[in-house]
Amino acid sequence: MNSSTCMYDCSSLVRLGSSSSSRSDQETWRLLYDRQCQMLEGRACQEFVEAVQKIQPLIYNLPNLELLSEQLYSYSGWRIFPVDGLVPSDDFFNLIGNRYFPVATFIRSGEDLDYSPLPDMWHDIFGHLPLLFNSSVYREFLENIAREIYQASDPDYKKTLENLFWYTIESGVCQENGELRVYGSSQLSSFNEISYALSEQVTVVPLEEVDIGIFSINIHTVQTTIFKIPCFDYLGQIDFKLLSK
Ligand SMILES: [Fe+2]
Repeated sequence: MNSSTCMYDCSSLVRLGSSSSSRSDQETWRLLYDRQCQMLEGRACQEFVEAVQKIQPLIYNLPNLELLSEQLYSYSGWRIFPVDGLVPSDDFFNLIGNRYFPVATFIRSGEDLDYSPLPDMWHDIFGHLPLLFNSSVYREFLENIAREIYQASDPDYKKTLENLFWYTIESGVCQENGELRVYGSSQLSSFNEISYALSEQVTVVPLEEVDIGIFSINIHTVQTTIFKIPCFDYLGQIDFKLLSK
């Protein structure tokens, strides 16, 4: 979850155009893109695979956020909101609830493609934008849960919703033709996590069978317990009122 304070070493993150690595930002992006696309088949949900194919010309190279935002708006009514640092949680959800998706203007170091201490542009764009472009179910769920989180006054209910956001949008799997497939952005944008999420090392629990509010999330470690939904479109059927007790 985004936070206004950072206790992690973010010195490896670089502002676009200021890379001191042996690789340019463009080279870093292309390496990330090419290797991640090779990981999608048989792991990512069909909605995401189709979406990446559809918007490939827009994200194949390091994108210009202004142009990408215009294209996203014409497709979906959403815009990109560039952020050059951490966004306080309330601001983060307020932006999303008003159809502005925050995207970092910094990117991980070209020396370490597998790690970013914070969500960087690669994560934000590759992990979220394809489904934002291509799925009205995803867009509506994202907007609705963000509004609900922003407006929630009861701390327990707010935490439950934030957990739900994390264990769906950021780290979620769904059933697809009897198999598990990834739709969470953390896994979709990570070379290692997309395989790990589907490995026997991870406990997968049906989302509808748990009280999601009781879990404590550490976004800086891989998730050893994740939650599955019966199908991708189930996102559109989640009733927040049932979580408010
Ligand atoms: Fe994310």
